Amino acid sequence: MQTHSTIASLRAALDAERGAGKRIAFVPTMGNLHEGHITLMRRAINHGECIVGSIFVNRMQFGPKDDFDRYPRTFEADCAKLVEAGVHHLFAPDEQQLYPSPQKFVVEPDPFLQTTLEGEFRPGHFHGVATVVLKLFNIVQPHAALFGKKDYQQYLVLSAMVRELNLRVEVLPGDTVRAADGLALSSRNGYLSEAERAEAPRLYRLLGAMREKILAGSCDYDALQAEAMAELAAHGWTPQYVAVRRRSDLKSPTALDTGLVILAAAFLGTTRLIDNLEV
Ligand code: PAF
Repeated sequence: MQTHSTIASLRAALDAERGAGKRIAFVPTMGNLHEGHITLMRRAINHGECIVGSIFVNRMQFGPKDDFDRYPRTFEADCAKLVEAGVHHLFAPDEQQLYPSPQKFVVEPDPFLQTTLEGEFRPGHFHGVATVVLKLFNIVQPHAALFGKKDYQQYLVLSAMVRELNLRVEVLPGDTVRAADGLALSSRNGYLSEAERAEAPRLYRLLGAMREKILAGSCDYDALQAEAMAELAAHGWTPQYVAVRRRSDLKSPTALDTGLVILAAAFLGTTRLIDNLEV
């Protein structure tokens, strides 16, 4: 694997790969890689002969109260995993490389998509995500880019960005990878205490139970959501939202809508966990 810390070095290497007729499949990350990321990297080989990963903890998508400073940075271990996953090029710029001057041109996602659910609790988050991903797409110029569905709203925001800005990249989703007890893998799981780690799979179990009720015909989504929030609170969580939405646009469904997804975000102690389940 070749590691590039500058845009110039990465571009030169990828020009050569493209010159040799290879398609480029790209998996952007913020590092602290787990099996979810590695599964995306392995899947990438189906979409290009040259696999590019990136590691960049993007300050612009963190709010003032978010965990930018304590976000885990595990570069050496990440590199070993990327080599094993068969990644050809790693782009790992520093902030000076990606943001040499304050970023004044920015991407503003769809007002609804960027302010609902995650956007309500993390104002400005998707504007930061979309801006850095557009920059990365312009640098890497991939044929395909893969994003995990654990960040469901992020996947929808980025798909919409590519569609509306006519970017020449195919955005592909990867299924959420889970621990044996159902907990969705996340870099933030490492913050959980032993007791919290034992409690954490409740979130996924709860989504599963809601899914069963919906499949059995329940369509009083407000009641289902309120019940789920109360159950989390009763077990010591601080829930932010549990919401049944349409998969296509994250709008609230009517009783006639199909193609739904249940999304949730909740604090367990000081750790914020998110998860979702399609219905
Ligand atoms: O999902 C992530 O890790 C980040 O939001 C991304 C897409 C790498 C942009 O910084």
